[in-house]
Amino acid sequence: MMVMKSQIIETTLLALVAIATCAPSSNKPPFLNLITKQNDKLYFGTATNNVQLNDTAYAAILDDSRMFGQITAANSMKWFDTEPERGHFTFQDGDVIRDLAKRNGQLLRGHNCVWHNQLPDWVANGSFTKPDLLDVVKTHCGTLVGHYRDSWDIVNEVLNDDGTFREDIFFNTTGSEYIPTAFHAARAADPHAKLYANDFNIEGINAKSEAYRNLIPQLRKQGVPIDGIGIQSHLIVGQLPTDMKENMEAFTAIGLEVAITELDIRMTLPETEELLEQQKKDYATVIEACNAVKGCVGITVWDFSDKYSWVPGSFAGQGAACPWDENMKEKPAFFGIVEGFLG
Ligand code: G3I
Repeated sequence: MMVMKSQIIETTLLALVAIATCAPSSNKPPFLNLITKQNDKLYFGTATNNVQLNDTAYAAILDDSRMFGQITAANSMKWFDTEPERGHFTFQDGDVIRDLAKRNGQLLRGHNCVWHNQLPDWVANGSFTKPDLLDVVKTHCGTLVGHYRDSWDIVNEVLNDDGTFREDIFFNTTGSEYIPTAFHAARAADPHAKLYANDFNIEGINAKSEAYRNLIPQLRKQGVPIDGIGIQSHLIVGQLPTDMKENMEAFTAIGLEVAITELDIRMTLPETEELLEQQKKDYATVIEACNAVKGCVGITVWDFSDKYSWVPGSFAGQGAACPWDENMKEKPAFFGIVEGFLG
């Protein structure tokens, strides 16, 4: 009975949105990017990986710019893949994603210039003087942003949850100086690219999001070109922060553009109807929050199908985090996104 009721609601929703998006009202889904743009946002996007592009059912959804208006490479623009040896840049994998987005008329988000993870050995285990490592960062970010334009996650996950700087090869060698160096190099390479700091656990008002609200204005005062904050949003079903909207407003109040850059909402498996319904509500809540904040410019899911989600590989016993299931069928979460825009 519950299933039937939810099916009726979804069918009605489909019909309403089909009218709103001028989409054929047959059995076509609503188109997330069209709906997002109708709400004065720039895009609804997804991350993707090179290895899955031959999956035709997957690619048919990925390539539809009515569904996704923006693409992020989940792995292939990272340091290990783009500069495996010092000064030797390899753009083959990243170019595949860039060309796909271009072909489909989709925006591209560069991910990422500087991150403590997925580094080649020569960086992760290198022994550098401070000027040497700053030079390495400058060359890496300048070359990447010069090659791929549009938006970029220039620094990724530079703070700990308590708001202190993460201790990694970059911080331990240069202090926090690598951050201005990365942003300046990016701006010099492309004066028009939108340059972001990107992190997780900054979805609500907490020590980490407050630390970014202190750090970024300080850096900007010193002339560091930071345009936006990427709120990753790897969330857990039933455990969303209650102040996501206020948190985004606090970022836009200091002049930052906000983007939800890596949205997924995981659950402890097995999935149940209750969990899927809660997940639907949770997706709607995130979308409503972004939609209510003018400076929240777009939303990107961290891949759209459970078949290719990073979650089960990183959290044993958890998964089903995406809006489409493993068979490329829209889940209740998909309709939660639509409902979030309808308000
Ligand atoms: O490329 C190798 C392949 O050769 C090998 O056969 C296979 C066996 O496991 O591993 C492949 O590497 C994997 C890589 O993704 C490419 O698929 C790594 O094991 C795996 O750890 C790596 O995971 C990525 C993860 O970052 C690394 O931390 C995920 O795909 C990627 O979605 C994830 O993305 C991050 C963002 O960049 C930053 N925010 C958090 C987000 C989720 O962790």
